[in-house]
Amino acid sequence: MKAPANVKQSIDFLRQICKISALKSQMCGIFGYVGSRSDAGQLVVNGLKNLEYRGYDSWGVAQKHGSTVAVTKDTGKISSVNAEDFSEECGLAIAHTRWATHGGVTQQNAHPHLNSNSTIAVVHNGIIENYQELRNELMAKGHVFLSETDTEIIPHMIEEELRQTDDFASAVRNACHRFTGRYGILAFHTESNTLVATRTGSPLIVGVGDHGYFIASDIPAFMEHTKVVQYLDDGEMVVTDGQSILFTDLETGEEHPKREIEITWSVEEAQKGEYAHFMLKEIMEQKDSIARAVNQDEQQIQVIADAIRNAQGTFLVGCGTAHKACMAAEYFFSVVSGHHVNVTSAGEFKVHHHFLKPDSLLIVVSQSGETADVLEAMSIAKAKGAKVLAIVNVEGSTIDREADYTLLINAGPERAVASTKALTGQMAVLMMIAYAMVEKLHEGKTLLLNTVSMINDMLNPRYIALLEEVAEEIQHHEDLYIIGKSWNYPMALESAIKIQEVSYIHAEGFASSELKHGPIALIEEETPCIALVGNDEVTPDIISNTIELKARGARTIGIAPKNNEAFDTWIKVPDAGAAQAIVNIIPIQVLAYFLAVKRGKDPDMPRNLAKSVTVK
Ligand code: F6R
Repeated sequence: MKAPANVKQSIDFLRQICKISALKSQMCGIFGYVGSRSDAGQLVVNGLKNLEYRGYDSWGVAQKHGSTVAVTKDTGKISSVNAEDFSEECGLAIAHTRWATHGGVTQQNAHPHLNSNSTIAVVHNGIIENYQELRNELMAKGHVFLSETDTEIIPHMIEEELRQTDDFASAVRNACHRFTGRYGILAFHTESNTLVATRTGSPLIVGVGDHGYFIASDIPAFMEHTKVVQYLDDGEMVVTDGQSILFTDLETGEEHPKREIEITWSVEEAQKGEYAHFMLKEIMEQKDSIARAVNQDEQQIQVIADAIRNAQGTFLVGCGTAHKACMAAEYFFSVVSGHHVNVTSAGEFKVHHHFLKPDSLLIVVSQSGETADVLEAMSIAKAKGAKVLAIVNVEGSTIDREADYTLLINAGPERAVASTKALTGQMAVLMMIAYAMVEKLHEGKTLLLNTVSMINDMLNPRYIALLEEVAEEIQHHEDLYIIGKSWNYPMALESAIKIQEVSYIHAEGFASSELKHGPIALIEEETPCIALVGNDEVTPDIISNTIELKARGARTIGIAPKNNEAFDTWIKVPDAGAAQAIVNIIPIQVLAYFLAVKRGKDPDMPRNLAKSVTVK
C-alpha cells in the first residue's frame, strides 16, 4: 500500500497494520450476579467494595429470596459493611454505589429502588432526563414514590409495562423506550430468575463465570471471579438466568452476537498491595507504566505522526488532567516538531467546531474512556466527517470503541480518583508522536526511556520522606500557588488540580510570566509558592519570577534539576530535557498525596468527585 496521503488513509492504514481490539469496556457503581452460587448477596457486597474508588455517598443491595426482595441500603461507606451479614442463601442479587445527582444523600434515595408491591428491583447509573413528566404520569395512575430520585420511576414504569406482557425482559425493554437520557440499568423481578440489563450511555460489562454471570459497571467488581468478559454496547439489552445469556438490540429486540474477551489486567494490579492508598501505589508505578506507554508499535506511531502532518487541522481535547496532557502536548508539538495543534478542554470544543473539516483530525485523550464531554466532542467531529484518534487507558471503554483508531497507554488500572500514572503515560505517547513528526522517533523513545530510569532512581524512600517533610511544613496553609513556563505551565495547572482535589487546599497554577499581571497581589508573608523549573532557555525567566515571589515574602519551593538561591526549599529532579514536564509533575503528585493524608483526607476518594465523569 502507498504511504497514506491524508487522515482517512492513515486511519485505514493503521487498522491494517495493527490488531484493533474489538469490543470491550468499563465504569461506575453497579454490580449484579445470577447463577448457581448461593452467596449472591455476599458476592455483590464484596464486588461493590472493589468499585469504591469511583466516589459515592451511599450504597445498597437487593437480594432475591424466593419470591421476595430483601433490600439493604444506607448512606456512608460500603467498606465498613460486613459481607457476612449478607450470607443468607441467594442466587440473584444487584448492588449499587450512588453518587447523588437527583435528590440528596439519604437512605431513601440510595438504590436499589422498588415498584409499588416490591416485586421489581432496579439499580441505575446515569440520568433519566424526562423523569418528571413520567413521574407525574405514573402518579396520576396511583403510583406512590418514596424517594426524590429519577431512578425510582424505572421499577414503576416496568410495573406498568408488565400489565401488557408476562415477559419481564419485554417489560423492561418497553419501559426503556419511554426514557430519554443516558443510563445503565440492572433489574430483576421476583417472578423470574433472570437478571436484565440495558445500556444507553453508561457502561456495563458482563463477566462470564463458571457458575453464572456477573454484570457490572466496571471490571474490578468481578475480576477475582472471572477475566472473561462480554461488552454491552449502547442501545443493547442483555438477559441472563445464570446459565445462558442473550444480547439484543434494545430498540428492535434483534439478537446481537457477542465475542468473549479475556482481559489482561491482573488482580494484583487492581489491588493496593503494600501501599496505604491506591494514589501512592499508582504514583510509584510510574517507573513501569511510562515504559509501557513508550513501548508502542513504532510503525503505528509514525503513521499517526504522518496523519497529523497531513491533517487539515489537528485538535486535541480532554478534560481535567487529560486536558493538561493535551496542553503539554501543544508545547511538545511546537518545540519538538514545529507543528501547530489546537488544544481545548473537551467541554469547550463545541464552540470550535466551525474549524473542523472532513480532513481534520481530532485526538481525544482520556484515562477512563468514558468522559461525557469527550464523547460529545467525538460526535461533533464525526458529524463533520473528521477522523478521531483516541489516546486512552481503558481498553474497550466507550471512547476506545467509538474512536476511528485507539492508542492504548497501557498504564494498568488507575483506581485512585486523582489521575497520576495515566497523565504521564498520555504525555509520553504524545511526546513520541511529536518526535516521530520530525523523523526522530528513536531520539524521542531514547529520551523517554532514559527519563523512566531517572524516575526509577528518583522515587526512592529518602526522596519520598523529603516530600513528606515538605508536606508536613506547608499542610496548614490554605492557599498555595504553583508557577511554570513552557511545558511546565500546563504542569503548574495540573499541580493545582492534584493538590485541590485530594487535600482541599486552595491551589492555583499560573504561567510564571503572568504573575505580575495580577496574581502576585495574592502573595503574603510565608505563602507557599512552588516553581516548576527545567534546564532550558526559559529557566532564567522562571527563576527571575521566583525571585519576585520571594521578594514579596513567599516561601518558595523549587522543583528543578539545579538548586538556586531563589528557592527556600529545593526539591531536586533529574534533568530530563524535553521530558522535564513528565518528571516535574511526579514530586507534586507525592506532595499532594501527603498533604491529603496529613490533613486527614482520603486521597483515594476525594469529596464530590467520581472517577469517571459520565455526565456533562
Ligand atoms: C484529576 C482527574 C480528572 C480527570 C478528568 C478526565 O485528577 O482525574 O481531572 O482527568 O475527569 O477523566 P478521563 O481522563 O477519564 O477522561
